[in-house]
Amino acid sequence: MELDQKTTKLFHTITFGCQMNLNDSERLAGQLRTIGYEATDDIEQANLILINTCCVRESAEKKIYGKIGELKRLKLVNPNLIIGVVGCMAQKDKDKILKKYPHVNLVMGTHNTHQLVELINKVEQSREPVLAVWDQAKRLAPDVPTVRKGQISAWVPIMYGCNNFCTYCIVPYVRGRERSRSLDSILTEMRQLGSEGFKEVTLLGQNVNSYGKDSEESIDFADLLHAADQVESIARIRYMTSHPRDMNDKVIDTIRKSKKICEHFHLPIQAGSDTILERMNRGYTTSYYRELITKIRRDFPNASVTTDLIVGFPGETEEQFLETLQFLKDIRYDAAYTFLYSQRSGTPAAKYPDQIPLPTKKARLQQLMAVQNEISLEINKQLEGSVVEVLVEGPSKNDETKFMGRTRTNKIVLWQKTGQEQAGDLVNIQIDTAQTWVLKGQLI
Ligand code: SAH
Ligand code: SF4
Ligand code: F3S
Repeated sequence: MELDQKTTKLFHTITFGCQMNLNDSERLAGQLRTIGYEATDDIEQANLILINTCCVRESAEKKIYGKIGELKRLKLVNPNLIIGVVGCMAQKDKDKILKKYPHVNLVMGTHNTHQLVELINKVEQSREPVLAVWDQAKRLAPDVPTVRKGQISAWVPIMYGCNNFCTYCIVPYVRGRERSRSLDSILTEMRQLGSEGFKEVTLLGQNVNSYGKDSEESIDFADLLHAADQVESIARIRYMTSHPRDMNDKVIDTIRKSKKICEHFHLPIQAGSDTILERMNRGYTTSYYRELITKIRRDFPNASVTTDLIVGFPGETEEQFLETLQFLKDIRYDAAYTFLYSQRSGTPAAKYPDQIPLPTKKARLQQLMAVQNEISLEINKQLEGSVVEVLVEGPSKNDETKFMGRTRTNKIVLWQKTGQEQAGDLVNIQIDTAQTWVLKGQLI
Protein backbone atom coordinates (compact mmCIF):
# COMPACT_ATOMS: atom_id res chain seq x y z
CA MET A 1 0.00 0.00 0.00
CA GLU A 2 1.36 3.43 -1.00
CA LEU A 3 1.08 5.88 1.82
CA ASP A 4 0.82 9.59 1.13
CA GLN A 5 3.86 11.18 2.77
CA LYS A 6 1.88 14.13 4.07
CA THR A 7 -0.83 12.11 5.78
CA THR A 8 1.38 9.35 7.12
CA LYS A 9 1.50 9.54 10.86
CA LEU A 10 4.45 8.12 12.74
CA PHE A 11 4.49 6.30 16.04
CA HIS A 12 7.29 5.24 18.34
CA THR A 13 6.95 2.62 21.10
CA ILE A 14 9.18 2.14 24.11
CA THR A 15 8.68 -1.25 25.72
CA PHE A 16 9.68 -2.34 29.22
CA GLY A 17 9.18 -5.71 30.89
CA CYS A 18 8.68 -9.28 29.82
CA GLN A 19 8.10 -11.07 26.49
CA MET A 20 4.38 -10.70 27.01
CA ASN A 21 4.86 -6.94 26.89
CA LEU A 22 7.09 -7.12 23.81
CA ASN A 23 4.34 -9.08 22.10
CA ASP A 24 1.71 -6.61 23.29
CA SER A 25 3.74 -3.84 21.65
CA GLU A 26 3.60 -5.79 18.38
CA ARG A 27 -0.16 -5.89 18.77
CA LEU A 28 -0.25 -2.16 19.44
CA ALA A 29 1.75 -1.63 16.25
CA GLY A 30 -0.65 -3.88 14.33
CA GLN A 31 -3.65 -1.84 15.43
CA LEU A 32 -1.98 1.48 14.68
CA ARG A 33 -1.17 0.38 11.15
CA THR A 34 -4.89 -0.03 10.45
CA ILE A 35 -5.37 3.71 11.01
CA GLY A 36 -2.42 4.83 8.93
CA TYR A 37 0.37 5.00 11.50
CA GLU A 38 3.84 3.77 10.55
CA ALA A 39 6.59 2.92 13.03
CA THR A 40 9.63 5.17 13.40
CA ASP A 41 12.84 4.57 15.36
CA ASP A 42 13.32 8.32 15.65
CA ILE A 43 11.36 9.52 18.65
CA GLU A 44 11.77 13.17 17.61
CA GLN A 45 9.78 12.49 14.43
CA ALA A 46 6.90 10.69 16.10
CA ASN A 47 3.32 12.00 16.17
CA LEU A 48 2.45 9.37 18.75
CA ILE A 49 4.63 7.88 21.48
CA LEU A 50 3.49 4.84 23.44
CA ILE A 51 5.31 3.69 26.55
CA ASN A 52 4.42 0.08 27.28
CA THR A 53 5.20 -0.29 30.95
CA CYS A 54 6.23 -2.87 33.56
CA CYS A 55 5.87 -2.66 37.35
CA VAL A 56 7.31 -5.99 38.47
CA ARG A 57 10.15 -4.23 40.31
CA GLU A 58 10.66 -0.68 41.56
CA SER A 59 13.76 -0.27 39.40
CA ALA A 60 11.62 -0.66 36.25
CA GLU A 61 9.09 1.86 37.49
CA LYS A 62 11.74 4.45 38.29
CA LYS A 63 13.15 4.20 34.79
CA ILE A 64 9.70 4.52 33.27
CA TYR A 65 8.71 7.56 35.32
CA GLY A 66 12.01 9.15 34.30
CA LYS A 67 11.15 8.47 30.67
CA ILE A 68 7.63 9.89 30.96
CA GLY A 69 9.12 13.02 32.52
CA GLU A 70 11.62 13.41 29.67
CA LEU A 71 8.84 13.36 27.07
CA LYS A 72 7.51 16.67 28.35
CA ARG A 73 10.29 18.34 26.36
CA LEU A 74 9.01 16.87 23.08
CA LYS A 75 5.46 17.85 23.94
CA LEU A 76 6.56 21.48 24.40
CA VAL A 77 8.16 21.47 20.95
CA ASN A 78 5.17 19.75 19.37
CA PRO A 79 1.89 20.32 21.24
CA ASN A 80 0.08 17.96 18.83
CA LEU A 81 2.22 15.05 19.93
CA ILE A 82 0.15 12.27 21.51
CA ILE A 83 1.72 10.50 24.48
CA GLY A 84 0.24 7.25 25.75
CA VAL A 85 1.24 5.26 28.83
CA VAL A 86 -0.04 1.70 28.58
CA GLY A 87 0.40 -1.75 30.13
CA CYS A 88 1.10 -2.99 33.64
CA MET A 89 2.21 0.22 35.38
CA ALA A 90 -0.62 2.14 33.73
CA GLN A 91 -3.00 -0.46 35.13
CA LYS A 92 -1.62 0.04 38.65
CA ASP A 93 -0.91 3.80 38.74
CA LYS A 94 -3.53 5.28 36.43
CA ASP A 95 -4.53 8.17 38.69
CA LYS A 96 -0.99 9.05 39.67
CA ILE A 97 0.10 9.21 36.03
CA LEU A 98 -2.74 11.50 34.97
CA LYS A 99 -2.28 13.76 37.95
CA LYS A 100 1.50 14.06 37.94
CA TYR A 101 2.06 14.12 34.17
CA PRO A 102 -0.46 16.40 32.46
CA HIS A 103 1.42 16.01 29.17
CA VAL A 104 0.17 12.40 28.97
CA ASN A 105 -2.88 12.07 26.66
CA LEU A 106 -3.77 8.44 27.13
CA VAL A 107 -3.54 5.95 29.98
CA MET A 108 -4.55 2.47 28.85
CA GLY A 109 -4.56 -0.62 31.08
CA THR A 110 -3.68 -4.22 30.31
CA HIS A 111 -7.32 -5.26 29.70
CA ASN A 112 -7.92 -2.50 27.17
CA THR A 113 -5.08 -3.19 24.73
CA HIS A 114 -7.49 -4.24 21.97
CA GLN A 115 -9.25 -0.85 22.12
CA LEU A 116 -6.26 1.19 20.99
CA VAL A 117 -7.74 2.38 17.68
CA GLU A 118 -10.91 3.66 19.28
CA LEU A 119 -8.94 5.35 22.07
CA ILE A 120 -6.49 7.07 19.71
CA ASN A 121 -9.43 8.38 17.68
CA LYS A 122 -10.90 9.72 20.87
CA VAL A 123 -7.64 11.45 21.82
CA GLU A 124 -7.28 12.94 18.33
CA GLN A 125 -10.78 14.40 18.54
CA SER A 126 -11.09 15.52 22.12
CA ARG A 127 -7.57 16.51 23.09
CA GLU A 128 -8.60 15.77 26.67
CA PRO A 129 -6.66 13.06 28.51
CA VAL A 130 -8.31 9.71 27.91
CA LEU A 131 -8.35 7.05 30.60
CA ALA A 132 -9.16 3.44 29.74
CA VAL A 133 -8.35 1.07 32.57
CA TRP A 134 -10.80 -1.73 33.27
CA ASP A 135 -10.33 -3.29 36.70
CA GLN A 136 -10.59 -6.73 35.23
CA ALA A 137 -10.87 -8.39 31.85
CA LYS A 138 -14.47 -8.52 30.68
CA ARG A 139 -13.74 -11.65 28.65
CA LEU A 140 -10.92 -13.02 26.54
CA ALA A 141 -9.82 -10.00 24.52
CA PRO A 142 -10.35 -10.39 20.76
CA ASP A 143 -7.31 -11.06 18.60
CA VAL A 144 -5.95 -7.95 16.90
CA PRO A 145 -3.57 -7.47 13.97
CA THR A 146 0.13 -7.79 14.76
CA VAL A 147 3.22 -6.19 13.26
CA ARG A 148 6.19 -8.25 14.41
CA LYS A 149 9.70 -7.07 15.08
CA GLY A 150 11.42 -10.25 13.92
CA GLN A 151 11.05 -12.42 10.85
CA ILE A 152 12.22 -15.81 12.11
CA SER A 153 11.10 -16.13 15.69
CA ALA A 154 7.66 -15.06 16.91
CA TRP A 155 5.74 -14.91 20.19
CA VAL A 156 2.30 -16.41 20.43
CA PRO A 157 0.34 -15.77 23.64
CA ILE A 158 -1.60 -18.82 24.79
CA MET A 159 -3.02 -17.36 27.97
CA TYR A 160 -3.26 -14.09 29.80
CA GLY A 161 -3.15 -13.35 33.52
CA CYS A 162 -2.04 -15.37 36.54
CA ASN A 163 -3.88 -17.04 39.42
CA ASN A 164 -0.85 -17.94 41.51
CA PHE A 165 -0.45 -14.96 43.80
CA CYS A 166 3.13 -15.56 44.80
CA THR A 167 3.32 -13.27 47.81
CA TYR A 168 5.99 -10.96 46.33
CA CYS A 169 4.44 -10.54 42.89
CA ILE A 170 2.30 -7.76 41.41
CA VAL A 171 1.54 -9.54 38.12
CA PRO A 172 -1.79 -11.16 39.18
CA TYR A 173 -3.05 -7.72 40.25
CA VAL A 174 -2.18 -5.97 37.00
CA ARG A 175 -2.83 -8.80 34.54
CA GLY A 176 -5.95 -10.29 36.12
CA ARG A 177 -7.14 -13.90 36.25
CA GLU A 178 -6.05 -16.63 33.86
CA ARG A 179 -7.75 -16.62 30.47
CA SER A 180 -6.71 -19.21 27.87
CA ARG A 181 -6.96 -18.61 24.14
CA SER A 182 -8.71 -21.30 22.13
CA LEU A 183 -6.58 -24.04 20.63
CA ASP A 184 -7.95 -23.11 17.25
CA SER A 185 -6.86 -19.46 17.37
CA ILE A 186 -3.37 -20.43 18.61
CA LEU A 187 -2.88 -22.99 15.82
CA THR A 188 -4.28 -20.61 13.21
CA GLU A 189 -1.78 -17.97 14.30
CA MET A 190 1.07 -20.51 14.18
CA ARG A 191 0.14 -21.67 10.66
CA GLN A 192 -0.11 -18.06 9.54
CA LEU A 193 3.37 -17.40 10.95
CA GLY A 194 4.70 -20.46 9.16
CA SER A 195 3.28 -19.25 5.86
CA GLU A 196 4.98 -15.88 6.41
CA GLY A 197 8.36 -17.61 6.79
CA PHE A 198 8.68 -17.71 10.58
CA LYS A 199 10.53 -20.80 11.82
CA GLU A 200 10.26 -20.59 15.59
CA VAL A 201 7.35 -19.91 17.91
CA THR A 202 7.49 -19.19 21.64
CA LEU A 203 4.20 -19.89 23.39
CA LEU A 204 3.68 -17.25 26.06
CA GLY A 205 1.88 -17.17 29.38
CA GLN A 206 2.67 -16.27 33.00
CA ASN A 207 2.09 -19.91 33.86
CA VAL A 208 1.79 -21.91 30.65
CA ASN A 209 1.18 -25.15 32.55
CA SER A 210 -2.23 -23.80 33.58
CA TYR A 211 -3.27 -23.57 29.95
CA GLY A 212 -6.86 -24.72 29.42
CA LYS A 213 -7.87 -24.91 33.08
CA ASP A 214 -10.36 -22.07 32.53
CA SER A 215 -11.52 -23.27 29.08
CA GLU A 216 -14.75 -24.88 28.03
CA GLU A 217 -12.68 -27.16 25.81
CA SER A 218 -11.31 -30.13 27.71
CA ILE A 219 -7.67 -29.45 26.95
CA ASP A 220 -4.40 -28.94 28.82
CA PHE A 221 -0.92 -27.63 28.09
CA ALA A 222 0.39 -31.04 26.98
CA ASP A 223 -2.46 -31.31 24.44
CA LEU A 224 -1.61 -27.88 23.13
CA LEU A 225 2.09 -28.77 22.81
CA HIS A 226 1.19 -31.95 20.96
CA ALA A 227 -1.03 -30.05 18.52
CA ALA A 228 1.56 -27.28 18.05
CA ASP A 229 4.21 -29.87 17.23
CA GLN A 230 2.12 -30.91 14.18
CA VAL A 231 2.22 -27.44 12.58
CA GLU A 232 4.41 -28.34 9.64
CA SER A 233 5.91 -25.02 8.62
CA ILE A 234 7.30 -24.29 12.10
CA ALA A 235 10.69 -25.85 12.95
CA ARG A 236 11.06 -25.06 16.64
CA ILE A 237 8.69 -24.52 19.54
CA ARG A 238 9.51 -22.89 22.88
CA TYR A 239 7.29 -21.88 25.78
CA MET A 240 7.52 -19.64 28.82
CA THR A 241 7.07 -19.54 31.71
CA SER A 242 6.35 -22.89 33.26
CA HIS A 243 5.69 -23.12 36.99
CA PRO A 244 7.66 -25.97 38.58
CA ARG A 245 4.60 -27.00 40.64
CA ASP A 246 2.57 -27.68 37.49
CA MET A 247 5.27 -29.25 35.32
CA ASN A 248 3.84 -32.77 35.11
CA ASP A 249 4.75 -36.11 33.51
CA LYS A 250 2.26 -35.64 30.70
CA VAL A 251 4.01 -32.44 29.59
CA ILE A 252 7.47 -34.02 29.88
CA ASP A 253 6.34 -37.10 27.90
CA THR A 254 4.80 -34.91 25.23
CA ILE A 255 8.03 -32.96 24.86
CA ARG A 256 10.05 -36.17 24.67
CA LYS A 257 7.83 -37.57 21.91
CA SER A 258 7.73 -34.30 19.98
CA LYS A 259 10.08 -33.28 17.19
CA LYS A 260 10.11 -29.54 17.54
CA ILE A 261 9.73 -28.68 21.20
CA CYS A 262 13.15 -27.55 22.36
CA GLU A 263 14.95 -29.20 25.28
CA HIS A 264 15.23 -25.99 27.25
CA PHE A 265 13.53 -25.97 30.65
CA HIS A 266 13.09 -22.60 32.30
CA LEU A 267 11.83 -23.44 35.78
CA PRO A 268 11.95 -20.49 38.18
CA ILE A 269 12.91 -21.76 41.64
CA GLN A 270 12.95 -18.25 43.27
CA ALA A 271 14.69 -19.49 46.46
CA GLY A 272 16.55 -22.57 47.68
CA SER A 273 15.07 -22.55 51.19
CA ASP A 274 11.83 -24.40 51.94
CA THR A 275 10.83 -21.87 54.57
CA ILE A 276 11.17 -19.03 52.10
CA LEU A 277 9.39 -20.96 49.34
CA GLU A 278 6.46 -21.50 51.64
CA ARG A 279 6.33 -17.83 52.57
CA MET A 280 6.48 -17.00 48.87
CA ASN A 281 3.44 -19.26 48.31
CA ARG A 282 5.24 -21.12 45.53
CA GLY A 283 3.51 -24.44 46.21
CA TYR A 284 6.56 -26.75 45.97
CA THR A 285 9.53 -27.79 48.08
CA THR A 286 13.19 -27.98 47.13
CA SER A 287 13.09 -31.80 47.25
CA TYR A 288 10.13 -31.90 44.85
CA TYR A 289 12.03 -29.55 42.55
CA ARG A 290 15.24 -31.60 42.72
CA GLU A 291 13.28 -34.70 41.69
CA LEU A 292 11.73 -32.82 38.81
CA ILE A 293 15.16 -31.78 37.52
CA THR A 294 16.47 -35.34 37.91
CA LYS A 295 13.58 -36.64 35.84
CA ILE A 296 14.10 -34.00 33.15
CA ARG A 297 17.83 -34.71 32.94
CA ARG A 298 17.18 -38.42 32.74
CA ASP A 299 14.75 -37.96 29.86
CA PHE A 300 16.77 -35.22 28.13
CA PRO A 301 20.49 -35.70 28.78
CA ASN A 302 21.31 -32.63 26.66
CA ALA A 303 18.67 -30.36 28.14
CA SER A 304 19.51 -26.89 29.35
CA VAL A 305 17.90 -25.78 32.57
CA THR A 306 17.53 -22.14 33.57
CA THR A 307 15.84 -20.34 36.44
CA ASP A 308 14.81 -17.11 38.13
CA LEU A 309 15.90 -16.25 41.66
CA ILE A 310 15.00 -13.53 44.13
CA VAL A 311 17.44 -12.53 46.88
CA GLY A 312 16.50 -10.61 50.00
CA PHE A 313 12.92 -11.78 50.33
CA PRO A 314 11.59 -10.43 53.68
CA GLY A 315 12.99 -12.41 56.59
CA GLU A 316 15.65 -14.19 54.49
CA THR A 317 18.40 -15.13 56.95
CA GLU A 318 22.05 -15.58 56.07
CA GLU A 319 21.55 -19.36 56.49
CA GLN A 320 18.58 -19.36 54.14
CA PHE A 321 20.54 -17.39 51.59
CA LEU A 322 23.39 -19.92 51.88
CA GLU A 323 20.84 -22.68 51.20
CA THR A 324 19.99 -20.91 47.93
CA LEU A 325 23.67 -20.64 47.07
CA GLN A 326 24.16 -24.35 47.76
CA PHE A 327 21.05 -25.15 45.73
CA LEU A 328 22.56 -23.38 42.72
CA LYS A 329 25.75 -25.40 43.09
CA ASP A 330 23.77 -28.64 43.34
CA ILE A 331 21.44 -28.06 40.40
CA ARG A 332 24.04 -26.43 38.17
CA TYR A 333 21.81 -24.28 35.99
CA ASP A 334 22.89 -23.25 32.51
CA ALA A 335 21.80 -19.72 33.42
CA ALA A 336 19.93 -17.92 36.17
CA TYR A 337 18.14 -14.57 36.08
CA THR A 338 18.67 -13.06 39.51
CA PHE A 339 16.72 -10.20 41.07
CA LEU A 340 16.81 -8.10 44.22
CA TYR A 341 13.52 -8.49 46.05
CA SER A 342 11.44 -5.37 45.43
CA GLN A 343 8.61 -4.38 47.75
CA ARG A 344 5.37 -4.09 45.72
CA SER A 345 2.61 -2.37 47.62
CA GLY A 346 -0.61 -4.34 47.66
CA THR A 347 1.21 -7.69 47.75
CA PRO A 348 1.32 -9.70 51.04
CA ALA A 349 5.13 -9.77 51.25
CA ALA A 350 5.31 -5.98 51.19
CA LYS A 351 3.80 -6.04 54.67
CA TYR A 352 5.99 -8.81 56.04
CA PRO A 353 8.26 -7.72 58.88
CA ASP A 354 12.05 -7.97 58.55
CA GLN A 355 12.47 -6.35 55.15
CA ILE A 356 16.11 -6.87 54.20
CA PRO A 357 18.31 -3.73 53.94
CA LEU A 358 19.40 -2.86 50.40
CA PRO A 359 23.17 -3.28 51.02
CA THR A 360 22.58 -6.85 52.28
CA LYS A 361 20.43 -7.63 49.26
CA LYS A 362 23.06 -6.25 46.91
CA ALA A 363 25.86 -8.21 48.56
CA ARG A 364 23.84 -11.42 48.29
CA LEU A 365 23.07 -10.77 44.66
CA GLN A 366 26.76 -10.27 43.89
CA GLN A 367 27.63 -13.56 45.58
CA LEU A 368 24.89 -15.41 43.75
CA MET A 369 25.87 -14.02 40.37
CA ALA A 370 29.54 -14.84 40.89
CA VAL A 371 28.70 -18.48 41.68
CA GLN A 372 26.26 -18.78 38.79
CA ASN A 373 28.56 -17.15 36.22
CA GLU A 374 31.26 -19.64 37.05
CA ILE A 375 28.83 -22.55 36.64
CA SER A 376 27.45 -21.18 33.35
CA LEU A 377 30.95 -20.86 31.98
CA GLU A 378 31.92 -24.38 33.07
CA ILE A 379 28.82 -25.85 31.43
CA ASN A 380 29.36 -23.90 28.22
CA LYS A 381 33.06 -24.87 28.10
CA GLN A 382 31.96 -28.51 27.79
CA LEU A 383 30.49 -27.58 24.41
CA GLU A 384 33.85 -26.49 22.99
CA GLY A 385 34.73 -28.75 20.07
CA SER A 386 31.17 -30.00 19.63
CA VAL A 387 28.79 -29.31 16.76
CA VAL A 388 25.43 -27.71 17.57
CA GLU A 389 22.32 -27.13 15.48
CA VAL A 390 21.58 -23.42 15.24
CA LEU A 391 18.57 -21.58 13.88
CA VAL A 392 20.00 -18.56 12.05
CA GLU A 393 18.35 -15.35 13.25
CA GLY A 394 20.41 -12.90 11.19
CA PRO A 395 23.51 -10.71 11.32
CA SER A 396 24.82 -9.94 14.80
CA LYS A 397 23.68 -6.56 16.09
CA ASN A 398 27.14 -5.59 17.33
CA ASP A 399 29.31 -6.93 14.54
CA GLU A 400 28.15 -7.06 10.92
CA THR A 401 30.77 -9.62 9.93
CA LYS A 402 29.14 -12.13 12.25
CA PHE A 403 25.89 -14.05 12.24
CA MET A 404 23.78 -14.89 15.26
CA GLY A 405 21.49 -17.78 16.10
CA ARG A 406 20.42 -20.03 18.95
CA THR A 407 20.78 -23.67 19.83
CA ARG A 408 17.70 -25.72 20.72
CA THR A 409 18.86 -25.27 24.31
CA ASN A 410 18.53 -21.49 23.83
CA LYS A 411 22.22 -20.62 23.89
CA ILE A 412 23.31 -17.71 21.74
CA VAL A 413 25.85 -18.64 19.06
CA LEU A 414 27.98 -16.25 16.98
CA TRP A 415 30.06 -17.18 13.93
CA GLN A 416 31.91 -15.52 11.08
CA LYS A 417 29.58 -14.89 8.14
CA THR A 418 30.30 -17.18 5.16
CA GLY A 419 27.65 -15.98 2.71
CA GLN A 420 26.03 -19.40 2.67
CA GLU A 421 23.79 -18.95 5.69
CA GLN A 422 20.46 -17.19 5.58
CA ALA A 423 18.10 -16.11 8.33
CA GLY A 424 15.72 -19.00 9.01
CA ASP A 425 18.19 -21.78 8.06
CA LEU A 426 19.05 -24.56 10.45
CA VAL A 427 22.85 -24.85 10.28
CA ASN A 428 25.59 -26.75 12.08
CA ILE A 429 28.17 -24.73 13.96
CA GLN A 430 31.34 -26.10 15.47
CA ILE A 431 31.97 -24.35 18.79
CA ASP A 432 35.56 -23.09 19.35
CA THR A 433 35.14 -20.69 22.25
CA ALA A 434 32.56 -20.76 25.00
CA GLN A 435 31.83 -17.75 27.18
CA THR A 436 29.35 -17.23 30.01
CA TRP A 437 26.58 -15.88 27.79
CA VAL A 438 27.64 -16.77 24.23
CA LEU A 439 29.22 -19.54 22.21
CA LYS A 440 31.49 -18.70 19.28
CA GLY A 441 32.27 -21.01 16.40
CA GLN A 442 32.35 -21.71 12.70
CA LEU A 443 29.83 -22.84 10.14
CA ILE A 444 30.52 -26.35 8.88
N1 SAH B 1 5.21 -15.79 35.60
C1 SAH B 1 6.60 -15.97 35.56
C2 SAH B 1 7.42 -14.70 35.57
C3 SAH B 1 6.96 -13.55 36.37
S1 SAH B 1 7.96 -12.14 36.53
C4 SAH B 1 6.98 -16.92 36.67
O1 SAH B 1 6.24 -17.14 37.59
O2 SAH B 1 8.05 -17.48 36.58
C5 SAH B 1 9.60 -12.69 36.24
C6 SAH B 1 10.44 -12.84 37.46
O3 SAH B 1 10.51 -11.62 38.18
C7 SAH B 1 9.93 -13.84 38.48
O4 SAH B 1 10.25 -15.14 38.15
C8 SAH B 1 10.63 -13.39 39.74
O5 SAH B 1 11.90 -14.00 39.85
C9 SAH B 1 10.84 -11.90 39.51
N2 SAH B 1 10.00 -11.09 40.39
C10 SAH B 1 8.65 -11.05 40.45
N3 SAH B 1 8.25 -10.20 41.43
C11 SAH B 1 9.36 -9.70 41.99
C12 SAH B 1 9.62 -8.78 43.06
N4 SAH B 1 8.64 -8.22 43.76
N5 SAH B 1 10.91 -8.49 43.35
C13 SAH B 1 11.91 -9.06 42.67
N6 SAH B 1 11.75 -9.93 41.67
C14 SAH B 1 10.48 -10.26 41.33
FE1 SF4 C 1 4.05 -13.71 39.60
FE2 SF4 C 1 4.01 -16.11 40.67
FE3 SF4 C 1 2.24 -15.48 38.77
FE4 SF4 C 1 4.79 -15.78 38.13
S1 SF4 C 1 3.45 -17.38 38.93
S2 SF4 C 1 3.46 -14.12 37.50
S3 SF4 C 1 5.86 -15.01 39.93
S4 SF4 C 1 2.37 -14.60 40.82
FE1 F3S D 1 6.32 -6.54 33.94
FE2 F3S D 1 3.79 -6.81 33.39
FE3 F3S D 1 5.54 -8.49 32.35
S1 F3S D 1 4.63 -6.24 35.35
S2 F3S D 1 7.14 -8.56 33.89
S3 F3S D 1 5.42 -6.35 31.95
S4 F3S D 1 3.48 -8.96 33.02
